[in-house]
Amino acid sequence: MHSKNKPIGILDSGLGGLSILKEIVEILPNESIIYFADSKNCPYGEKSLTEIKKITTKVIEFLIKKDCKLILIACNSITSVFIDELRGLYEVPFVGVEPATLVAAKETRKGKIGVLATKTTAQSNLFKQTKNKVSPRIDVEIEIGKGLVELVEEGRIKNKEARGVVLSNLKNFKRKGVDQVVLGCTHYPFLKDVMKEIAPEMNFIDPSLAVARQVGIILTKENLLSTYKKPFWKLYFSKKAKGMELLLKTTGLKEIKVRERVIF
Ligand code: DGL
Repeated sequence: MHSKNKPIGILDSGLGGLSILKEIVEILPNESIIYFADSKNCPYGEKSLTEIKKITTKVIEFLIKKDCKLILIACNSITSVFIDELRGLYEVPFVGVEPATLVAAKETRKGKIGVLATKTTAQSNLFKQTKNKVSPRIDVEIEIGKGLVELVEEGRIKNKEARGVVLSNLKNFKRKGVDQVVLGCTHYPFLKDVMKEIAPEMNFIDPSLAVARQVGIILTKENLLSTYKKPFWKLYFSKKAKGMELLLKTTGLKEIKVRERVIF
C-alpha cells in the first residue's frame, strides 16, 4: 500500500479521543483511522510518569505494527509529559493535544480564565511554559478534573449525577467569575452540554477541530494526504468501556468497526 493510504493511528487513555476522531472524519474524509482506547488503564491523569510512558509505549508499538503513517496522541496527559521523547524515538510524525490556554487568554473579556485538566497535564512543564506566556493581567484558575473522565467512560454524560459532578468541578470558576474555560482533557467535550447548562455564563473551549486541522497540515507537509476513496475506521480497546456504544452514537461514528479486545 502506498504510504499516503496507510491509516492514521490515534490513541487515548480511553474514549475521550473520539472527540478529535469525529472532527478528523469530518474534515479529512479520505483518511483511514485506527483508534486505540486504553480503557483498562484509564484514567492516566493520576498515574506516575513512568507508568504513563510504559503503557503508552505498548500502544504506540501496536499502532506502528498496524502500519500507521502518523500518530495522534489524542490525550493531553500523554502529550504533556511524553510527546517530545516520542518524537526522538520514532520516525513516524506525531501530533498531540494541549490545553488551549492562549486561545482562552485572547478571548476573555473579564480577564479571568479557567483551565480544567488532569493532574498530570496541570503539573507538566509543557503546561507551565504555556501558562507563563499569558499576560500577567489575566488570572489563570486551574482546576484538576475530578470524576469527569469516569462519567464519560461509563457513558453517564447527561444524567443527574453528571450534573452534580460537573457542578462541583466548575464551582471554583463560578466563584472567581471566569468567562473562558479550557477543556484540557479530551474526555471533557462529551460533557459540554451539561457544562453549558450549569454555567451558561462561561464559554467552553474545545480544541478538537484545531487538532484535526493540525493533522491535516502535517499530512500535507509530509505529502501523506490520502487519496483513498474507501477509507476504514477501526476501534481497538483494552477493555470494553460501558460508554462505548453511547459515545460512538453521540459522535455519529456508527460505521466504525469495533474490533476485538487487545491484551498486551
Ligand atoms: N483523555 C485524557 C486527556 O486528554 C486523559 C484522561 C485520563 O486518562 O486521565 O488528558
